[in-house]
Amino acid sequence: MKNYKKIILITGGAGFIGSHVVRLFVNKYPDYKIVNLDKLTYAGNLANLKDIENKSNYEFVKGDIVDENFITGLFKKYLFDGIIHLAAESHVDRSISHPTEFIYTNIIGTVNLLNAAKFIWKDNFKDKRFYHISTDEVYGSLGEEGIFTEETKYDPHSPYSASKASSDHLVRAYHDTFKLPTIISNCSNNYGGYQFPEKLIPLCINNIKHNKPIPVYGKGENIRDWLFVNDHANAIDLIFHKGRIAETYNIGGNNEWKNIDLIKLLCQITDKKLGRKTGTSEKLITFVKDRAGHDLRYAIDSSKLQKELGWKPSVNFAQGLEKTVGWYLENEEWMENITSGDYQKYYNEQYVKR
Ligand code: NAD
Ligand code: DAU
Repeated sequence: MKNYKKIILITGGAGFIGSHVVRLFVNKYPDYKIVNLDKLTYAGNLANLKDIENKSNYEFVKGDIVDENFITGLFKKYLFDGIIHLAAESHVDRSISHPTEFIYTNIIGTVNLLNAAKFIWKDNFKDKRFYHISTDEVYGSLGEEGIFTEETKYDPHSPYSASKASSDHLVRAYHDTFKLPTIISNCSNNYGGYQFPEKLIPLCINNIKHNKPIPVYGKGENIRDWLFVNDHANAIDLIFHKGRIAETYNIGGNNEWKNIDLIKLLCQITDKKLGRKTGTSEKLITFVKDRAGHDLRYAIDSSKLQKELGWKPSVNFAQGLEKTVGWYLENEEWMENITSGDYQKYYNEQYVKR
């Protein structure tokens, strides 16, 4: 293998955020070898990485982080210097209907990676890092007031957030017990291109385009703090290189939106882009049964990351959303490829039969 400065493993690189992180690292660090390990579940899609798939410093490996022998073999083969771990089952609704897969991938999968890193690094941790990507959902739900800091007590409510909280605890435990050089970041809701349309924003844009009902859980009063995905990828780059070992960094957009207000804005932007009369699509808004255990509000305090590492979100929401709607409307083939197969079955179970 060519003499690379670092060999980095990115897990889940064929998913939404992972593909943006892989693209950033492959292009920005030609002297790093980037190995993207992904099982290619329903959420993994190599079409997300078409533009970089032939770069000489990039390699894709198909595999499952739950498979312990395979993971040990992979680590022995590449002797990674760093791991950026994004692979996960990531959709809250799926964790409510089918929780077990979340336990395997998010908990057992993370432990397999920790063990493999511990095995190849032995006690020589110089310039090594195990960076675990997590979510603000581990902190639970806020009321009308307050904000999540790195000190907020964990209080997860869904099988998804409980499995991510468990993986966060294990990552910290491997630092405290074995001195493994770990870092964790917890981010708020991401949006942008290449997001699987089970998540609110791409689902709404796709339904508006096809004149299908826009399903709003409960009264649409829940609040999320939205961050453009490239800003998350930039934060990951910064934390991976400059973050302090054993620290946690919160990442967020300081950009809270009630779901119903966000959906109305999406209707306006999409209608305009499709040449429809503004607001036409609002009639598609349909209030449906609420998500079980639906967290009311998330809001992230990212001041530690801003002060310590100089990060700040660079994309304002109006511009980011315009760009995102444009991306989904332009990338029709990408959307059709992923909504033509199993997606219909998922959609019927989630929205039609409930
Ligand atoms: P995603 O569902 O789009 O992608 C997950 C990727 O992991 C897919 O490519 C999938 O094939 C892969 N994967 C799943 N199980 C695997 C396994 N057993 N072995 C190997 N690969 C497997 O998820 P995302 O939205 O890009 O989220 C990525 C990470 O960021 C997750 O850890 C998630 O918890 C975290 N996160 C997401 C958000 C968000 O808003 N989407 C916010 C904060 C944190
Ligand atoms: O906060 C970070 C988290 O954000 C990540 O850890 C998760 O991986 C990611 O999926 C996301 O979780 P949410 O549950 O917040 O995202 P989702 O897009 O599923 O839903 C956003 C909000 O919109 C939430 O309040 C539920 C609501 N919603 C969602 C869907 C899919 C609807 O009202 N209707 C819908 O059809």
